[in-house]
Amino acid sequence: MVYLDNAATSYPKPSEVYDSVFAFMKDTCANPGRSSHGMARDTAELVMKARESLAALFNFPNPLQVSFTPNATYALNMAIQGVLRRGDHVVTTAMEHNSVLRPLYELKKFGLIDYTIVQPYDRFGAIDPKTLSRAVGPRTRLMVLTASSNVTGTVMPYEEMGEIARKKGIYYLVDASQGAGVLPFDVQAMHIPLLAFPGHKGLLGPQGTGGLYVDEAVALRPIIQGGTGSRSFETIHPTFMPDMLESGTINTPGIVGLGAGVDFILKTGINAIREKKERLLARLYERLVSHPKIKLYSTIEAHKNSGIIALLIEGMDSSEVGNLLDSRYHIAVRSGFHCAPLAHKSLGTQKTGLVRISLGYFNTLDEVEYAADSLIEIANNPGQG
Ligand SMILES: Cc1ncc(COP(=O)(O)O)c(C=O)c1O
Repeated sequence: MVYLDNAATSYPKPSEVYDSVFAFMKDTCANPGRSSHGMARDTAELVMKARESLAALFNFPNPLQVSFTPNATYALNMAIQGVLRRGDHVVTTAMEHNSVLRPLYELKKFGLIDYTIVQPYDRFGAIDPKTLSRAVGPRTRLMVLTASSNVTGTVMPYEEMGEIARKKGIYYLVDASQGAGVLPFDVQAMHIPLLAFPGHKGLLGPQGTGGLYVDEAVALRPIIQGGTGSRSFETIHPTFMPDMLESGTINTPGIVGLGAGVDFILKTGINAIREKKERLLARLYERLVSHPKIKLYSTIEAHKNSGIIALLIEGMDSSEVGNLLDSRYHIAVRSGFHCAPLAHKSLGTQKTGLVRISLGYFNTLDEVEYAADSLIEIANNPGQG
């Protein structure tokens, strides 16, 4: 199978990830922060090491300011529901994932908040920073922006919006689901007080991992309470990071694997990872762009794409193309709607969906050529499904 669905979850992982998860499950596998025995201490040390690796990658000063979550969705919900208060206003975009939109819809449904959704200005889903900035009003407490679209791969102005949000005195939450591990993130230089990320996509960790970085200045309420191993006699859930957002037993094998994934990225270098992805992306684009029946919804302008080519083949539904790629060519892509309904409406693909080819660091040029050959064959013979 040629795996081109890395925006859903990355595969394969670096061998260090597999090895570390296996070794941990076999030898260490205790609960950190609960007991004081050696295995629990060793586990706590490994979890701390993963926090330190994330702090190095995203440049936050205190590794304890990151909490581990089961995925990006939990992290986004914890941030959104944790900072908003009755009467608040939120600025976000039509390019967001349902993990951002649905919590906002829910809060609005109960009359608690209101929001402004900024529309993209081109067919790649690009968002204008000035439009975002102008949408901020006197009641705005939070701006939520995806670093890169999970539908088209378009990189959003997430770097510059941090300074704008800071000047306007509002919280700024970046959804790094389609950027962490590929795009540069420096939460201090970019003024990003809230950064939500999955561990299982570009960070190359196992599924069931993710996290939320929270700046010390953010007043955040935990939306889940329970055991943390600390302050057991207090009736109030801890209000300090990371315990505040880590209720219940954490996914220690996953976190150890995530730490190994992040270490692999630190060792390889974000620039090298990005350059390789951009090279593969450019080749795929080049092979497809002039085909009369293939319409591309992604740009390959330098540093403007996190690793996705979204496309449609004339006269075919995206799921038909996805099914053919799977059954006839053994190529794994995602088709249909990518949990981003407003993005599809804005791009005009709400009926067809889009075929999403998402590259990973371990894909090869041969795989890209094969995917291009296959898509061209399908486009030239659409009736042969
Ligand atoms: C932009 C974006 N945000 C949020 C998510 C949710 O991530 P997770 O599946 O880790 O909860 C995804 C997953 O595809 C995504 O692409």
